[in-house]
Amino acid sequence: MNRNKNKNILLVNGANLNLLGMREPEIYGSTTLAMLEEMLVDKAHQLEATLKAMQSNREYEIIEAIHAAKTTDIDGIIINPGAFTHTSVAIRDAFLGVDIPFVEIHISNVYQRETFRHHSYLSDIASGVVVGCGLYGYELALLQILNIISHK
Ligand code: DQA
Repeated sequence: MNRNKNKNILLVNGANLNLLGMREPEIYGSTTLAMLEEMLVDKAHQLEATLKAMQSNREYEIIEAIHAAKTTDIDGIIINPGAFTHTSVAIRDAFLGVDIPFVEIHISNVYQRETFRHHSYLSDIASGVVVGCGLYGYELALLQILNIISHK
């Protein structure tokens, strides 16, 4: 039996990730957010899971999406919070509040960048962190979240 069957994943992209493809392409590449989301929906489908994607530049919308995940059958979350990673106690508290496993992903290697990017409010409570693998990191994050929730 495929353990991924009927697993529902939510992909959350935070601040400024709507600009993927245009924003600092030397760091974030030339693929757009729409292309990335489509690729991940397809990948999840191949793995017999389903994936819904959302992006917001508003912290409260991300918090509300995490809360809503609890009542909408979401089994696991993949999140790239963008700069909220380094600032948001509120997003951390939302994850602690709903107790849904999540994997944190960063496209760039934040540890090669400014020191303010080295601290994350989420990493110590995440079920995995993928850093610096480019957009491939989202695929790795998908495999990891499915691995975690399928063995719960
Ligand atoms: C990012 C890294 C963050 O430091 C930055 O604020 C982003 C993107 C990444 O995917 O590499 O917006 O999360």
